[in-house]
Amino acid sequence: MANVVANKPTLHKALLSWYASHGRQSLPWRNLPRDGSCAYEIYISEIMLQQTQLSRVLESYYFPFLTRFPALSALAESSEQEVLHLWQGLGYYSRARNLHACAKLCVKQHNAKLPDDLQSLQALPGIGAYTAGAIMCFGFGRVAHFADSNIARVLQRLIAKDLTQSQLLALAESLLPQADKVFDYHQALIDLGALICTKSPKCASCPIASHCASAFKPITIKPKAPKIPLTLHLAICQKLDSIALCKSSENLYKGLYNLPIIAKAQIPQSPLPTHYLLGSFAHSYTKYAITAHVYKLQLANAASILAESGAEFFALDSLPPIANLTKKALALLENRKI
Ligand code: ADE
Repeated sequence: MANVVANKPTLHKALLSWYASHGRQSLPWRNLPRDGSCAYEIYISEIMLQQTQLSRVLESYYFPFLTRFPALSALAESSEQEVLHLWQGLGYYSRARNLHACAKLCVKQHNAKLPDDLQSLQALPGIGAYTAGAIMCFGFGRVAHFADSNIARVLQRLIAKDLTQSQLLALAESLLPQADKVFDYHQALIDLGALICTKSPKCASCPIASHCASAFKPITIKPKAPKIPLTLHLAICQKLDSIALCKSSENLYKGLYNLPIIAKAQIPQSPLPTHYLLGSFAHSYTKYAITAHVYKLQLANAASILAESGAEFFALDSLPPIANLTKKALALLENRKI
């Protein structure tokens, strides 16, 4: 570690010149004023990028979200349901609920702006140490140190050690460059982690391999925890052009609408005219490997299921926010008109 810190001027030089030629400098959130006037746009980008591939954020979510909610005040004035609508398909919906709650708090407590200090940022819902540091650095142009999963992987490989969070932050702080380079330095580390220092690192292409204690060494990739299998039986219950959905109160999908779940005991052993199995599909969501079986239920036979699940009917052409699982199930309905 001492060596890496002592050699940091050459490390910075190598990293920053690689970033100048190979980095993703044209990303929209890297080309904004750094005086705090666009801290909101930085905040939205960082929250979206937390658990979602950059290409999906860029192609389908970042600009539509900012067009609909161009400022914290617009976000605060909307309903949680509308925010979830724009988030539909991105997953990890607590991010959207936290954005909405955070906007409301900022309107109340911070004059409809994001505060420009780490402590106040971290007091807001959904903003942890990493996001607060990224907002300070990328949005307010301040010197801040932080480590997302990409930066953490690069720094730990650099010194070939597994670090605790506080050791990681101490290393990140000791490696900071001079103030005017802090923005590019962090974006460069993020890109290095995403493009070169990946799970199977491409050390031959790495600009800082000569500084790295792990370069060209065999790496052990920790096996991912296997997903938890989960079987769901879902009910599609139609009344003219509307469909029964229930508002989820579970954390995973809280605020979104799902198809009613049928308990196993309510499913007939053989397909009866009242319970058509429309189809089954596999769906992966967070830590679950879901197998979904989708049944079409006759209204007359669904009363107890609808009552137990607290379902409400929604017109198919103006559905409330639904998750991908529900979207996939409804696609079965569109394929097989019964
Ligand atoms: N992932 C997290 N933050 C990012 C950023 N600023 N640019 C690209 N990917 C990121």
